[in-house]
Amino acid sequence: MRLSTSTLVSAVVLPALVSAHDIHHARFQPRQAAPASSAASAATPSTVAASGVTSAGAPSTVASAASSISEPPTASFSLLSSNANAVPLSSINANAPSQATVALDTTYQAGATPTVVSSAPGLPNPSSLVISSYPPLDKTPPTDSPEVQQWIQEVANSGVSIPNFSSTVAGGCPANAAAVADTSRCWWTCGGCTRDTDIVSCPDKNTWGLTYDDGPSPYTPTLLSYLDEQSLKSTFFVVGSRALSYPATLQAEYMGGHQIAVHTWSHPELTTLSNEEIIAELGWTKKIIKDVTGVTPNMMRPPYGDIDDRVRAICTAMGLTPVMWTRISPMATFDTGDFDIHSGATSVTQVLANWENILGNASVMDTGFIVLEHDLFQQSVDVATGYILPDALAHKYTIEPVVNCVNKPMSDAYIETNDNSTNPPIASGGAATLSSGAPGSAEATAKAGGSGNSSSSASALVSSPKSLGLFALTTVIVSLVGGSVATLL
Ligand SMILES: *[C@@H]1O[C@H](CO)[C@@H](O)[C@H](O)[C@H]1NC(C)=O
Ligand SMILES: *[C@@H]1O[C@H](CO)[C@@H](O)[C@H](O)[C@H]1NC(C)=O
Ligand SMILES: *[C@@H]1O[C@H](CO)[C@@H](O)[C@H](O)[C@H]1NC(C)=O
Ligand SMILES: *[C@@H]1O[C@H](CO)[C@@H](O)[C@H](O)[C@H]1NC(C)=O
Ligand SMILES: [Zn+2]
Repeated sequence: MRLSTSTLVSAVVLPALVSAHDIHHARFQPRQAAPASSAASAATPSTVAASGVTSAGAPSTVASAASSISEPPTASFSLLSSNANAVPLSSINANAPSQATVALDTTYQAGATPTVVSSAPGLPNPSSLVISSYPPLDKTPPTDSPEVQQWIQEVANSGVSIPNFSSTVAGGCPANAAAVADTSRCWWTCGGCTRDTDIVSCPDKNTWGLTYDDGPSPYTPTLLSYLDEQSLKSTFFVVGSRALSYPATLQAEYMGGHQIAVHTWSHPELTTLSNEEIIAELGWTKKIIKDVTGVTPNMMRPPYGDIDDRVRAICTAMGLTPVMWTRISPMATFDTGDFDIHSGATSVTQVLANWENILGNASVMDTGFIVLEHDLFQQSVDVATGYILPDALAHKYTIEPVVNCVNKPMSDAYIETNDNSTNPPIASGGAATLSSGAPGSAEATAKAGGSGNSSSSASALVSSPKSLGLFALTTVIVSLVGGSVATLL
């Protein structure tokens, strides 16, 4: 096989920041722990060749910001391909100047309908949105409005019983010992518990359910343009406040054949909220998406993955199926960590090392997988369009929105267009997606011990040699060390 010169394997000395965490996504330790970071930070500089790439020439000239903290760990990764127009790795960091944003390829007329959503209603006119009729941006909406009061009533009328758990408090697992100990809550954040009604992976091997969270943002059009170029479709977990700020971008996602789903109004940890506040967060996000696109999503992703059986019950009552990202053990979540490049809490090389670990783990799973990525910051979009997506395409995965990866048509993703035949409403007991025992399911998590014991499922996976051969045979290896590039092989 002839390899493109853009094929990379790099061993990069990282600033010793891998254990630092951005506050936004760091509150819950297990979820945010970068898969490779614990191994990397335990390694001494002379044993950095965790993936077989030697660290010859590893400089002691680590980025000055980091050199104060003992010896730097190293992250390494390999890619089958990258984008010829990629932003260079050295320019994807917290200090990167803001790039010029690109305009949307297409804007759409009111009344238009997307081809992939059969019997969709016409697109609303976004200029008819009255901003003052929505709650303040980025705050949990008040619960005494007529809208929220109506949604509370609908939840009460749904017949779904909501467990009477106390809310958790800020501070994650260490601050919530009783809730952590109460396994009947099935609290994902502290132990990875999931239920069969959660979508945690795609059933078919080598299928990637592509997702981007926290947008739409000024950088979303750049991502959309790359996805269009490659004929890729994604699921977007939309923050209601961003949808109100960027309605034309949300319309472009929807009309472009991407799946739109709910990611709350203000991005809180849902288990910390009251039932009424959770209803307000989800209800307003459903409403803004419907007001902008004409349709109401029936899937949601909890910010930080923070879900328990109380939040699940409210989601069920509101017609929303939770979609997580694949998690095979407390330390191996399929989280690229891309969110944290913007703040400097992680580096692009760590993110690509995480990506390589994700693919390694995916290659030995029986099912497909779902990965956490974001379209809020330019750094995340740069790493997605420049590196992660080109690499995934070279791996020849089937890449599709979550609704398609669970083998349902796009029309099943919205309450107005779902005919309930292949995707019965979750409250009716439908929407189970995976057999029990699949990675990330409640059963698999229970087998893994739920907390503390990360060895069982992870070591079973790493002990299989299947995944590693591809990289060893086909990669041209380049070492990018402290900014200089040297060919090793
Ligand atoms: C729910 O739990 C709280 C305290 O944990 C208790 O005061 C309240 O009565 C319970 N409500 C119901 C309906 O059981
Ligand atoms: C799976 O991920 C873990 C880190 O999360 C990593 O240490 C391990 O090498 C990966 N397994 C494979 C087969 O790549
Ligand atoms: C599908 O189920 C929802 C929720 O129960 C209901 O509101 C809707 O009318 C149903 N759609 C059809 C086409 O039956
Ligand atoms: C973790 O689980 C594995 C496999 O079930 C078991 O062999 C091992 O003893 C457990 N380790 C701990 C610390 O519980
Ligand atoms: Zn998020």
